[in-house]
Amino acid sequence: MNETSIILGGEESSKPINLSKNELMEAIEASSKFTELMMMYRCAIREVQTKLEVLNDEFKTRRKRNPIDSIKSRIKSPISIFEKLERRGLDISIDSITTNLNDVAGIRVVCPFISDIYEVAHMLMSQDDIEVIEVKDYIKNPKTNGYRSLHYVIIIPIFLSTGKEYMKVEVQIRTIAMNFWASLEHQMHYKKFESEEMPDIVNELTVCADNIYSTDVRMQELREDIHKYE
Ligand code: GTP
Ligand code: MG
Repeated sequence: MNETSIILGGEESSKPINLSKNELMEAIEASSKFTELMMMYRCAIREVQTKLEVLNDEFKTRRKRNPIDSIKSRIKSPISIFEKLERRGLDISIDSITTNLNDVAGIRVVCPFISDIYEVAHMLMSQDDIEVIEVKDYIKNPKTNGYRSLHYVIIIPIFLSTGKEYMKVEVQIRTIAMNFWASLEHQMHYKKFESEEMPDIVNELTVCADNIYSTDVRMQELREDIHKYE
């Protein structure tokens, strides 16, 4: 490990210190800069969550239904942060976290219908304090395994006593059905099933994802049919 000048206790140590990778990670995690950064990500999540709740409330009042079924948020754990930096061969530092990672703050929005996803996305992303820096539409272009979801990386300002800070937040928007599939598929990966060794299972999972999507599309059509009777 190279000599590294690191941030300890919020003060930049100009004196190079020889640290192992693990010691470096522990030192960063224990630093007040890191604690502050995580606080800022938590605040950014709250800002986005409030915006979504406001939209849901307004929609409910005007149109008598909720376009959002549930919202879940999470801050990436320190261990996952460092593992991701290592996996990608990136610098292990506070700057590297803010520059290279888009998903330290993550929000998952689950909607009843496919059309709700795009409506919620449009209502949120067109707000003038939100800057969209990345969009991945895995609904129009599903992943080969069948994963579907609409992903955004946004930058949102948070207001601290020391001034305005701009924070990145990853927003995933999907239907209840897409979320059902993604949650189960994620659990199966945790159980360490090796995709190369089990091509049949991988194919079956993709078939399930496609069937679930067909049902999503059908449910939306049925809803539109019901509207015609109303
Ligand atoms: P990550 O390094 O995983 O963040 O990938 P990325 O930066 O290329 O972003 P991408 O938009 O592809 O995926 C971001 C997130 O979407 C992941 O962290 C998962 O939460 C979710 N995701 C992406 N692909 C899959 C998938 O195949 N299955 C499940 N269950 N979730 C997925
Ligand atoms: Mg991620």
